[in-house]
Amino acid sequence: MPVAGVDLVEEILELKRERNAVILAHNYQVKEIQELADFVGDSLGLSYKARDTDADVIAFCGVHFMAETAKIVNPTKTVVLPDLDAGCSLSDSCPPEKLKAYLEQHADKNYYVIAYINCSAGVKALSDVICTSGNAVKIVRAAPADRNILFVPDQNLGSWVMEQTGRKMELWRGHCYVHVEFTQNAINQIKGKHPAAEVVAHPECTFAVRMLADEVCSTEKMIDYCRKSHATEFIIVTESGMLHRLRREVPDKVFIPGPTDACACADCRFMKMNTLEKLHDCLLNLEPRIEIPESIRARAELPIRRMLELSK
Ligand code: 13P
Ligand code: SF4
Repeated sequence: MPVAGVDLVEEILELKRERNAVILAHNYQVKEIQELADFVGDSLGLSYKARDTDADVIAFCGVHFMAETAKIVNPTKTVVLPDLDAGCSLSDSCPPEKLKAYLEQHADKNYYVIAYINCSAGVKALSDVICTSGNAVKIVRAAPADRNILFVPDQNLGSWVMEQTGRKMELWRGHCYVHVEFTQNAINQIKGKHPAAEVVAHPECTFAVRMLADEVCSTEKMIDYCRKSHATEFIIVTESGMLHRLRREVPDKVFIPGPTDACACADCRFMKMNTLEKLHDCLLNLEPRIEIPESIRARAELPIRRMLELSK
């Protein structure tokens, strides 16, 4: 185990070179990981990077479904996740067996299944197309007009997309435990303290919170929105890691974390399970690795490829 700090960062970079690895990090990762990653982005950007990399190893600093997506689109690579317990409450809300049973029970509806990328490989394998928060509107608009849509697993993203597109969909009743913690009351209070600030919220937030937002968008689009907006102060209603990315890339503006009723900001406990130490160890041992049965991987790849094609 190396000593913490500069030595640890150098050892990680050295291991990265030895392993011919690429380090991909989601916008919600801790600052130290974001700073040494080769690419930091949202689920959509990370999927493209994972598909296109020519590195031998993908060290995925995010949660399990993201690393799994990397393995699905680039199966010959070794994909490691610093902490295998880095799951996702939203993904857990839709087990593949439950979705399969639901589809069988409602076979008469002949559902076109659109799955938000925050789901397991098993759920992706049961879907027609995948979407992320960055392309959900586009993907839903491209869905066949004569089919009933079942949107899984996030009911908040699903209802936001219905508002944007006017397309009726049936929604799986899942949610992200982080984003539903933001309340109308907490956001109104912080707006009262910063009246000139714009509110930028992730579509996984509830309707009541989205109603207070000047902009609702994916984490990646938040960068562009805040850069171009005339406002100089923003209340960012998503996971706290996003604040680091924004402050780094838009340094001349002020970013205030969206509060919950209980806390001044919101952390995803799963995203925060990854640490520099665990990243070091997974590059050293090439464990824990993401492995997926080939029959599921191959089936899950189809709707992801469809998404990547549609959102070019
Ligand atoms: P993005 O795709 O916007 O990065 O969101 C991922 C996520 O897990 C949101 O909670
Ligand atoms: Fe899942 Fe929510 Fe964490 Fe995103 S923030 S990884 S949706 S639990």
